[in-house]
Amino acid sequence: MAFNHKHLIDITEYSDADIMTILETAKAFSQVNERAIKKVPTLKGKTIVNMFNEPSTRTRSSFELAEKRLSADTMNFGGSSTSTVKGESLIDTVMTLDAYKIDCIVVRDKHAGAPYMVSQASPAAVIDAGDGKHQHPTQALLDLYSIWERKGGFEGLRVGIVGDIGHSRVCGSLVPALKIMGAEVTLVGPGTLMPARPDVLGADHVSAHLDDVLPDLDVVYMLRVQMERLEGAPFPSIREYHDLYGLTRRREHLMRPDAIICHPGPINRGVEFDSYMADHPERSVILDQVYAGICVRMAALYLLLGGADNGLSA
Ligand code: CP
Repeated sequence: MAFNHKHLIDITEYSDADIMTILETAKAFSQVNERAIKKVPTLKGKTIVNMFNEPSTRTRSSFELAEKRLSADTMNFGGSSTSTVKGESLIDTVMTLDAYKIDCIVVRDKHAGAPYMVSQASPAAVIDAGDGKHQHPTQALLDLYSIWERKGGFEGLRVGIVGDIGHSRVCGSLVPALKIMGAEVTLVGPGTLMPARPDVLGADHVSAHLDDVLPDLDVVYMLRVQMERLEGAPFPSIREYHDLYGLTRRREHLMRPDAIICHPGPINRGVEFDSYMADHPERSVILDQVYAGICVRMAALYLLLGGADNGLSA
């Protein structure tokens, strides 16, 4: 198994073989998460800093848990409790952390490009945990894992991504990742929530009409409207958005019988979903995605930090 990456910042630098290696490694680590004692010695002696300068529930908690289950030493750091509020720059902050001889920095930041800047300033491995509206590569990998578990492969799979494409860092990684794996991707949403050049993301199709697209999809991937990143009002009302783009019980008859529903979280019930679809027992894989997050992040940390023993036989 050849895996020659130091960082996980830009998913387009990963090949289909690299991505399959991560998914298969995540599958192996899933066994660890099913055991009574959910811990292996794989990253014993490694030090990982989780630098979250923006709010997070899923990404932060699953990285921290993944690191602990791999026996790494972890430090959670970031936001208003750091000396950045006194004017210290991101790079000076990173150089300070590096003085502790750390091995990996997991970075979430509201500024696109922050993880890349950190990688230029630090000898440590860097993982992008979501930067501005740019990328969120581990989210894309956990999405692929969840789809792979349910659909068994990607070649020719028809995936629709619905909602606020223009402000989504999830799309910045997920669309290229799906294309690398051979899926067909359609972006669906109002023109006001599309990027100026949706073709740059690499999707096959763009549509403003959810009802036209739904019958063809194997995977319906819903996105949250990123209110915190909107400049001005992109649609007249939440009610109108929900009527046109919400995945609701009234629309289920348009879906293929085996179509699944994904969402990166956090979800906004009554906006992109109704609760019937968000909690659909056969179709919704949202909580499977949350579980996949810990397996995929264990895999990424293991592969990037070169753990000699994956501990799976322990
Ligand atoms: N999907 C995701 O990144 O969720 P959090 O913001 O809660 O980490």
